[in-house]
Amino acid sequence: MTRARSSRRSFLKSSTLAAAATALRNAPLLAQATTHTDARIEVLPSEPLGTISPEIYSHFIEHLGGVIYDGVWVGENSKIANVNGIRKDFIDTMKAVKAPVLRWPGGCFADSYDWRDGIGPRAKRAARTAFWGQQDNNAYGLHEFMQTCRAIGCKPYLAANLRTQPARDFYQQIEYCNAPAGDIASNSAAPAAPNALAAMRAANGDREPFNVDLWGVGNESWGCGGTMTPEEYAAEFRRYTAWTPSYSKTPPRFVAVGPNGDDIDWTSRLFKALFANPERRHLWGLSIHYYTSGSPKAFAAGDALKFDDAEFYDLLTRGSLMDKVIVDAWNAATGAVPNERANGRSAGFGVKLVVDEWGAWYGKGTELAPEYNLSQQSTMRDALLTGITFDIFHRHADKVGVAAVAQSINCIHSLMLAQGDKFCVTPTYHVFRMYLPHQGAQAIRADFMAPSINNPLGDTPSQVGGNSYIGQLPPVRTLAGLSGSASLSNNGKTLNLTVVNPHLTDAMTTEISVRGASVSSAKGTVLAEKDVHVHNDFANPKAVEPRTASTMQPGGGRLIHTFPPASVTALEIALA
Ligand code: AHR
Repeated sequence: MTRARSSRRSFLKSSTLAAAATALRNAPLLAQATTHTDARIEVLPSEPLGTISPEIYSHFIEHLGGVIYDGVWVGENSKIANVNGIRKDFIDTMKAVKAPVLRWPGGCFADSYDWRDGIGPRAKRAARTAFWGQQDNNAYGLHEFMQTCRAIGCKPYLAANLRTQPARDFYQQIEYCNAPAGDIASNSAAPAAPNALAAMRAANGDREPFNVDLWGVGNESWGCGGTMTPEEYAAEFRRYTAWTPSYSKTPPRFVAVGPNGDDIDWTSRLFKALFANPERRHLWGLSIHYYTSGSPKAFAAGDALKFDDAEFYDLLTRGSLMDKVIVDAWNAATGAVPNERANGRSAGFGVKLVVDEWGAWYGKGTELAPEYNLSQQSTMRDALLTGITFDIFHRHADKVGVAAVAQSINCIHSLMLAQGDKFCVTPTYHVFRMYLPHQGAQAIRADFMAPSINNPLGDTPSQVGGNSYIGQLPPVRTLAGLSGSASLSNNGKTLNLTVVNPHLTDAMTTEISVRGASVSSAKGTVLAEKDVHVHNDFANPKAVEPRTASTMQPGGGRLIHTFPPASVTALEIALA
């Protein structure tokens, strides 16, 4: 096992921030002048990046392995603590991270799912063979999902079946979900009458409409969702959304299937095709799926627990490509429709990016049991990837409207593991909690100046991403030595600063300054373990837990803080 060494000589060499950093390096420290520093962070409150949508902290569950059955749904008669059949620990954990949105039923599962199979008396529901080659007894359907959302206090995000059901089923599902019970005025000469689908919903236990506003129009239509070309998909998107019933003054938010990772060609062609016709009803978002494989050589490979230092740095380097994926998708979409940009429609063209599947995806070996397909363990390495990913989303607060981790429980990049009466949270869960102050805050620019780290596996090209990968990205040879994001809350008086130090051995003593403001006090939380392989499991559920960060007294309006090796830190800094 070789330790990857940070290349201090490469510090700032390739950085566009080099000039600013040199100026800062020469600036006198007003206090703590004798403290040695390895890095600097300069926060610029006068440069807002956008409001951080709380919905980038969203979640995703699909009938796959042990996600729904056992993970979320244990049944009303279970000895496992539950609320109307839903695992109580799942609800409590989702509440603890203030989950804003929950996506269901897929994923690939969505494009072979008939929503009518999951309604009505549970004992009478048909069992079906479903995607992922598994049997679905349909005990968990639309009403159970809505109950889950209500128990958590989050919004539902449904994915329509575009591959195997006609457009009629999509608009009737909207009708079933959203039509009010009782007489509906006909908006014609016909008399008011109750809506039959709303009456069916009421008979199935929910008189009140579900008011679902976020709808994925298909899933991965370039792959499991129909192996379509972008032009074919654009035509389907238009057909499925050309008319849908509406019961609210707020239009529905339709999300079009976007690229497989960094597939710029898909995005560019899709937008050309979609905007070739002025009718794009309620196109609100473009979905992006970007997974970081556990191995640079193959998709969904590598071991979640056994990795060496080189593999550790390489995974975080490829995970950091999320930044490129976002920028490339944005540029491809806006570049494909230059007139929209010229028309000045919002920052770009009024469409938000919806990164509704992300995470580190490993090969087999750490699943809870063979039937828990795609379940995997999760270490400190995954916690660092979580921090890096959220910091990227914050830095693109103007572009990313929604993001959902794949998937919340017993799956790829999970916050929770559950098997029967056994339950634990993963290190990723802790990062979700630590990053809560960013939700809804104003993202601002922060420049991080630290020596970059050589990626020892940097000569291996990365996969484009997604489930069925099609192509490669150029090799990436360096990983940011310190990265993070900043936001303001509490009327600009509180600075939320989150920082990932990926060095396996080096602590980073860092000078933090805020342009135009003074640091008056700081407190924080840190997630750091000496061994990055450490993880929680049923036998040892608290092996990884955050602790209070020891912060120094600010001096001269600045803060000196030491970020331990391989750590995620969340600082709350009071500004004067
Ligand atoms: O999250 C697992 C699968 O990954 C999803 O079903 C699919 O959309 C993606 O390829």
